[in-house]
Amino acid sequence: MASNIIFSTVISSIQIKDKKLNKALHNYAYKLKKETKNKIVSNEGGFQSDDVVLQQKPVKDFLDKVTPHLLKHVNLYAIQGQHSVEITNLWFNINKQHNLNWSHIHLRGADFSAAYYINIPQNSGDIWFKNPDIGTHVSEIFKSEKKSWNSFNSSFWHFSPKETQLLIFPSSLEHHVKPNQSRKDRISLSFNFKVLYGS
Ligand SMILES: [Fe+2]
Repeated sequence: MASNIIFSTVISSIQIKDKKLNKALHNYAYKLKKETKNKIVSNEGGFQSDDVVLQQKPVKDFLDKVTPHLLKHVNLYAIQGQHSVEITNLWFNINKQHNLNWSHIHLRGADFSAAYYINIPQNSGDIWFKNPDIGTHVSEIFKSEKKSWNSFNSSFWHFSPKETQLLIFPSSLEHHVKPNQSRKDRISLSFNFKVLYGS
């Protein structure tokens, strides 16, 4: 028997491992929180910044560092011809104790989205992705006990983020963040990007 995997969803995970840059992003998040107004988008409590200026340090340094990884992720889609990536927007999130993010998608003209984790205390909230195959939310077989979880039998998939980890996923993929159950702040940044065609 041949088992043909005909469609799938890929999320790339990369450890950025630059403590100095991470510290600069950490300080920048608190500077934004202090000096700018809070936005309510997917967040229940917590701080969500406006879109930041991409050319400003340390955001520019961060984007320079992660862009090769974004291109590697796009390569999985085997696009023919010259192409590059453009960041469409980027913002910071600070979730305090009990804060969470409701289920949402990013899209807004982007192809892909990413989350980078600046400060992740223990039990500060996993990110949960919803299987875009609607069958996995209605069919009985997805409700029964399993010997183990795999990409065929899961209606949700969650990650326990680590500090300096970057996750890249399709902008259309619905996700939510569980409540922060620690007393410390959970700090992350999110961004969207699209593929540009031609040289
Ligand atoms: Fe999000």
